[in-house]
Amino acid sequence: MDRVGIIGYGHMGSMLVNGFVASGALGPDEVVVASKSRTSLDACAAAWPGIGIARANRELARQCRLIILAVRPQETMGVLNEIVSVTEGDEQIVSLAAGIGLKDLEELFPGSVTRVMPTVTSTVGQGTTLVCHGRQVGMHDALRVEGLFSSIGNVVLVDETNLPAATLLSSCGPGLLAVIIEELAGATARASGLPPDRALMLATEMVAATAAYLRETGEAPRDLVEEVATGGGVTEAGVKRLRERLPGVFDGAVAAMLERYGAVGK
Ligand SMILES: NC(=O)c1ccc[n+]([C@@H]2O[C@H](COP(=O)([O-])OP(=O)(O)OC[C@H]3O[C@@H](n4cnc5c(N)ncnc54)[C@H](OP(=O)(O)O)[C@@H]3O)[C@@H](O)[C@H]2O)c1
Repeated sequence: MDRVGIIGYGHMGSMLVNGFVASGALGPDEVVVASKSRTSLDACAAAWPGIGIARANRELARQCRLIILAVRPQETMGVLNEIVSVTEGDEQIVSLAAGIGLKDLEELFPGSVTRVMPTVTSTVGQGTTLVCHGRQVGMHDALRVEGLFSSIGNVVLVDETNLPAATLLSSCGPGLLAVIIEELAGATARASGLPPDRALMLATEMVAATAAYLRETGEAPRDLVEEVATGGGVTEAGVKRLRERLPGVFDGAVAAMLERYGAVGK
């Protein structure tokens, strides 16, 4: 009964199974997976021999105390509604859905409910999972979820009011940064004879190294800019151009994402 159930074996569901099992946080026999399609379940069973496969969401709910809903926001309330009739009340429901609040989840399941916002970079054991517990979550359940997700990266507790903004950075952020890497590499390749794949490799390595540098030295980005962008130098010319345009670009991107966040799952 104390197994961890994951409903939805898509991008996030498969990443969680891989992360929890590969890190040793859970054995395959401690995990049960349910998903809509036979194809997803077959892929899961092939990847993790010995893992529990449930033919239906309710079958999973009967076997697990911790149930992670890794379906899309628009499917989350339907799936919770489906399983709630077979729950006993002492389960913990963990929802990954952006835009679906604790209040809505707790109205359907008036027990222990936690919202969790993982990030695709946890595939490589890096990045921050945001965790936001509901009112009914006791110490034991809170620590269990936090411990489980810390097996795939960092865990940061946030208030629900801060979840949208924090999600933009930790969960949407990899998509934003990937665009920046692509654009920077593309512009460099277009303006030079550097092959695009080589430009992309250099840009990717540079971004990883810059993040590691800032994290390890604790230096502020502004100080790093000053170190690299010496007066009249090459970097300064680029920094000046970016400083003129980027604030407006990012204000627009953040506003668009926050607006969309409010509409997700509605
Ligand atoms: N992608 C990200 O970077 C990210 C980051 C943070 C949070 N999230 C959240 O994580 C959740 C999942 O996102 P995702 O990117 O993993 O989506 P996804 O790849 O589309 O996966 C969703 C999965 O849900 C399954 N499913 C759909 N309806 C179902 C049902 N009624 N019963 C059981 N399974 C069902 C689908 O199954 P089949 O494959 O079997 O058809 C699919 O595999 C979303 O709520 C999203 O907001 C995603």
